Amino acid sequence: MLQQGKLYPNPAICKLPTRITIARGGQKLRDARYDILFEPMAIGPVTAKNRFYQVPHCNGGGYRDPSAAAAMRGTKAEGGWGVIFTEQCEMHHTSEITPFIELRLWEDQDIPQIAKMAERMKTHGALAGIQLAYSGINGPNLYTKEVPLAPSALPIRTFTNDPVQARALCKSEIKDLRRWFVNAAKRSKTAGFDLICLYGAHGFGIFQHFLSRATNQRSDEYGGSLENRARFVNEVIADIRDAVGDTMGITLRVSLDETIGDLGFSNAEVRDFIEMNKDLPDLWDLAQGTWEDCSGPSRFKEEAAQHELVKGIHELTSKPIVGVGRFTSPDVMVKQIKSGVLDFIGCARPSIADPFLPKKVEEGRIDDIRECIGCNICITGDMTMSISRCTQNPTFMEEWRKGWHPEIMNKKGDSSNVLVVGSGPAGLEAAWALCRRGYDVAVAEAGTDLGGRVARESKLPGLSAWGRVKDYREYQLSQRANVETYFDSRLSADDILEFGFENVALATGATWRRDGVSRQHVVPMAIDPGMKIYTPDDLMDGTVPSGNVVIYDDDHYYMGGVLAELLAQNGARVTLITPSAFVSDWTNNTLEQASIHARLVEMGVEIVLNRGVTGISADHVVSNCVYTDMTEKYAADAVVLVASRIGNDEVYHNLKTRESDWSDAGIKSVKLFGDAEAPGPIAWSTYAGHRYARELDGEDIGDALPFRREITELAKE
Ligand SMILES: Cc1cc2nc3c(=O)[nH]c(=O)nc-3n(C[C@H](O)[C@H](O)[C@H](O)COP(=O)(O)O)c2cc1C
Ligand code: SF4
Repeated sequence: MLQQGKLYPNPAICKLPTRITIARGGQKLRDARYDILFEPMAIGPVTAKNRFYQVPHCNGGGYRDPSAAAAMRGTKAEGGWGVIFTEQCEMHHTSEITPFIELRLWEDQDIPQIAKMAERMKTHGALAGIQLAYSGINGPNLYTKEVPLAPSALPIRTFTNDPVQARALCKSEIKDLRRWFVNAAKRSKTAGFDLICLYGAHGFGIFQHFLSRATNQRSDEYGGSLENRARFVNEVIADIRDAVGDTMGITLRVSLDETIGDLGFSNAEVRDFIEMNKDLPDLWDLAQGTWEDCSGPSRFKEEAAQHELVKGIHELTSKPIVGVGRFTSPDVMVKQIKSGVLDFIGCARPSIADPFLPKKVEEGRIDDIRECIGCNICITGDMTMSISRCTQNPTFMEEWRKGWHPEIMNKKGDSSNVLVVGSGPAGLEAAWALCRRGYDVAVAEAGTDLGGRVARESKLPGLSAWGRVKDYREYQLSQRANVETYFDSRLSADDILEFGFENVALATGATWRRDGVSRQHVVPMAIDPGMKIYTPDDLMDGTVPSGNVVIYDDDHYYMGGVLAELLAQNGARVTLITPSAFVSDWTNNTLEQASIHARLVEMGVEIVLNRGVTGISADHVVSNCVYTDMTEKYAADAVVLVASRIGNDEVYHNLKTRESDWSDAGIKSVKLFGDAEAPGPIAWSTYAGHRYARELDGEDIGDALPFRREITELAKE
C-alpha cells in the first residue's frame, strides 16, 4: 500500500488526506427477495433461464462490424442475461434504413455472420433472439434503390425527411411479404436463434404501420376496423408458427401508444388489440410509441416511466409480457413482477451500462451494479453510423475490437504506481481501472469533492442521474486497498517531480472559454467590458445572472439548453441565440432535442435559431443571420457564453519542459488525457481514462492500428 507521508512531503499540498478503504468481504449470496428474478420462464416452446431480458438494441456496428456486435452480445451472455436479442435486422432488401447500420438477413449468404452472433448469445445458456424488421413507411431504401412498400402510399418517415414516398402494397405483394417473413424466420432458425421478435414499435416496423390508422388508410380487408388492421400481423404470425413455431418462440414488439391522438395507435386501442388477440404471440414485448419516448433520457424520463401504459395489460392476455423503463434497481424490477405488470424485465441501456447486471444481482453485489445514467450517448453511435459508446461502460463495443472486458482488466505491467491528477470522469475511470490491474494509485484532487465536471453538472436541472458516473467509481475505489484519494491537492510540476511516482496521469479537465471562441468565432470576439459575461463554469459555481440574459450557444450539445432552464427557473428572461437550426442541435443524436425545445418554450425561453452573435456591447448583443448576415440587436443585462472549452494542460506542459528531470524523479511516463487533452462529452473522458489504464506499460505499437476491424464477407454460394 502507498505510504502517504512518503508521497506527499509537503503537508500543505494535501490538506485532506482521505484514504477511504473498506475491506472487501467474502462472496455474498443473492438476497432472497430477488429470487423471483431468477425463475425460469417459458416463451412458447423455449424457456428462458431467468427474467432478465435484453431487448433489441442497435450499436452502430451492425452488418459492418458483425464480430464486434457478436462479442458484445457474448459479454451479455456471460453477464447472466436470460434472453438476448440482436438489434433490428432488415429481413428483406425491399426495406432498409440506410444510412443507419443495422443487421441484414436478405439471403442465405448472410446466415454465417448472423449465426456467429446467435452462437455467442447462447454461450452461457441465454436464449438467442433476432428482431426481424421490415421498415415499410420508415425505410427509404437509399442503398437498394427499391421503391419502398407500405400499407398506404405516404411519404417516408425518417429522421432526415428523405424526399421519398412509399407505394401501397397490393394484395399479392402482401402475400409476398408474408413469404419473405417466413423465409427470414427459416434463415433465423438455421442461424441458431431461439426467438423471433416481430418489430411493430417506435414507428419503425411494418406491423405498427398496419395497426395504426395514421399509416394504414386502406379500404380493403387490411384496413379500416381494428380487426382488419390486425389481419396482417395475424397472418404473419400464423405463417411463421407453421414454419418454425415448434422450436422457436415468437414475440411481437408493439407500441404502447403512438402519442398522436385518436388517429394513431393509442394506448386504449393497443389494449383492445391485445384483448382481441390474446394468444397471438408467445410473448408481448411492449414499448412506448416513439423511440424518443421509449428511450427517453433521464433528463426527461424516470426509471419505470412506462409503468402506467403497461399496467393492467396483463389481465388481457395469458401470454408473458416484457416491458422496459431504464430498469437498474432490482427492487423496482421485483415490484414490476410481483405487482403483475411484467413477467420479464426488459433492458437495453441498463444492459449496455452493465452487461453483468444479472450476475451482480445473483451474487448479492447490488452495490457493484454500474447504473445507466440515461444520457443516451449509446444511441449516438447508431445515429451517427459510427460505433456506439457508453458513458458508464467504456468497454462497450470494444470487446472484440480491443479485447476489452467490462469486468476483467489486463494484467499489471512492469511499473508499480500511478499518480492520477484530477478526479473527473477521466481520472476516476483511470484510477478504478488501474487499481483493478494491481497498480498502487494515488488520486490528487484540487477541490474537496470527487467527480470534477460530473459532480458539478449533475447539480444542473435534469442531470442528477449523471452523478452516477462519480458515485459508482467513488464507491468502487473506496473498496480497494491500493487507492488513496487526496483532496485540496492542486499539484504543480514541482510537486509532481518531488513525489517520484513512476507514472503520472494528468486528467485535469477543461475550462469554458470566456472569449466566445468556438465555431463562429475562431479568434476572440468583440466584447465591451461594460457587459457582464458569464460562462457555464460561473453558473455551476453558483453565480446565476438575472434580468435579461442572452445565452449564446455555439457549443450545440446540452449545456446551452440546460443553462437556459436553470436561468429561467431562477426568474431570468432568457433569450437563447444559436447559429444552428435547432436548439441543442447535437441532442438530435441523443433523441432529446424535441423535448428540450418544448421544455424551453414552456418555460418562456425565447429561442433564436440560425443566428450568431457578432459582437457584445454594454447593453445588448449584435446578432447576425447565418444566411444573410443581416444584423439585429438583442437587449441584455448579462450574456452567458456557451462556446468551447480549453483543456487544463498547464501542468502537463510544465512537466514536458522538464522532461530531462523525469528520470531523476523516478518518473517513467507522463500522459495527458480526457478533457484536458481535448474536451468532449463525458463518455469520451471515461473512454480516455479507461484506455490510459489499459495501455499503461503496454508495448509500443508504433504506427499500427490500435483496434481490430473487419471487412465482412458474404458466405460463398
Ligand atoms: C442504442 C439503442 C438502440 C436501440 N435499437 C433498437 C432496435 O434496434 N430495435 C428496437 O426494437 N428497439 C431498439 N431500442 C429501444 C430499446 O429496445 C428499448 O425499448 C428502449 O431503449 C427502452 O429500454 P431501456 O430503458 O432499457 O433502454 C434501442 C435502444 C437503444 C438505447
Ligand atoms: S450511454 Fe448513457 S444512456 Fe446509454 S447505456 Fe451508457 S450510461 Fe446509459
